Amino acid sequence: MMKILIVFGTRPEAIKMCPLVLELKKHDNIECTLCLTGQHREMLDQVMDVFGVKADHDLNIMKAGQSLTSITVYVLEGMEDVLKKEQPDLVLVHGDTTTSYAAALAAFYRKIPVGHVEAGLRTGNIYSPFPEEVNRLQTDRIASYLFAPTQLNKSNLLREGRSDNIFVTGNTVIDSFAYTVKKEYRFHESKLNGLDFDKRRVIIVTAHRRENFGMPLENICNAIKDIASRYNDVSFVYPVHLNPAVRGTVSDMLSDVENVMLLDPVDVSDMHNMISRCYMVMTDSGGLQEEAPHFGKPVLVLRTETERPEAVEAGTVKVVGVNKENIISEAQKLLDHKDAYDLMAAAVNPYGDGHACERIVEAILNSEEFF
Ligand code: UD1
Ligand code: UDP
Repeated sequence: MMKILIVFGTRPEAIKMCPLVLELKKHDNIECTLCLTGQHREMLDQVMDVFGVKADHDLNIMKAGQSLTSITVYVLEGMEDVLKKEQPDLVLVHGDTTTSYAAALAAFYRKIPVGHVEAGLRTGNIYSPFPEEVNRLQTDRIASYLFAPTQLNKSNLLREGRSDNIFVTGNTVIDSFAYTVKKEYRFHESKLNGLDFDKRRVIIVTAHRRENFGMPLENICNAIKDIASRYNDVSFVYPVHLNPAVRGTVSDMLSDVENVMLLDPVDVSDMHNMISRCYMVMTDSGGLQEEAPHFGKPVLVLRTETERPEAVEAGTVKVVGVNKENIISEAQKLLDHKDAYDLMAAAVNPYGDGHACERIVEAILNSEEFF
């Protein structure tokens, strides 16, 4: 019997790791234990409820307006006790959050092998996204099993001198749709049921990155305000991240704007079903850049770079930066020109076929180190 400890703590990690927890639990020769760090609270619990996954440990570390140092210290300390108690053969972490890096480091300090799901994403700039680029570099360095979503992610790892135990799996976010997306769907957020997705062009907006705090986020809000005033048939839906640094700016600038619906974070079922029905997405989120292309929805990335160039190359995602005029003109191209819209909407999603979790489990089961 092999013992695997999965550790995660934020919304996107939960969305991408719950399908893996459920897949691991199908195997009798694996004992799968789950530790939440609680780096997020409400936004994490929303996801756990949708997947019906229960944790065995919860470090419950979240503080309002927390610092990177406090997340790192509390996760490192909390994980020490959990690792001592559980003594896993393998620790699995995901992506680029501070939870993931600190949990990988805690496992390394006890010489427990780490598997990194969503390995090999890079921008090449340690300050953008900050601190995620360093979180994923360090987590990859510690990990002995690297589960890369795409061939390009694998080539990034090869370029850094890694060669063993790299598996190209697809992104587990695509697997999550099997649990969330329905043809006939009634939203849990009642305001969304009042929106006619056939009659109105719904643009979903999200933004939460540290690089965008302050002026860039103000530019994004001003661009939305401008577009909303020009197009009567467009409705913006903006589920606002709970970070106070985001909420202050967004509610000050957009709460009274017609055609802009500000919401608290919606659960992942609502979000995925909304993406599948919307016109397009404007975001600085990593996950949304992978999800929207699956449904053939164009994405304007409100950042100056991306670690996910695959969908840009496929033509379904465009990096438009954080200049107000540029955001407006790129959005207008998609609103005014059917050809430009159709070109982006027809693109293919390079992030997988919905079987990433099976591939990850198969790679673990085939590993001689554990069996
Ligand atoms: C974190 C990750 C980021 C990821 C994002 C997903 C790090 C350094 N950042 O950023 O990579 O893209 O999650 O959303 O790991 N808050 C709540 N309730 C919640 C969640 C957050 O109130 O459920 C508030 C708290 O005041 C918290 C603040 O948001 O202190 C910031 O949360 P934090 O995890 O530090 O940063 P994120 O921007 O969410
Ligand atoms: N998401 C959600 N509810 C929301 C906003 C986003 O369920 O109100 C989902 C979204 O579909 C995606 C994930 O959260 O799966 C992205 O998380 P986030 O943008 O917070 O982090 P990132 O992907 O940038 O790390």
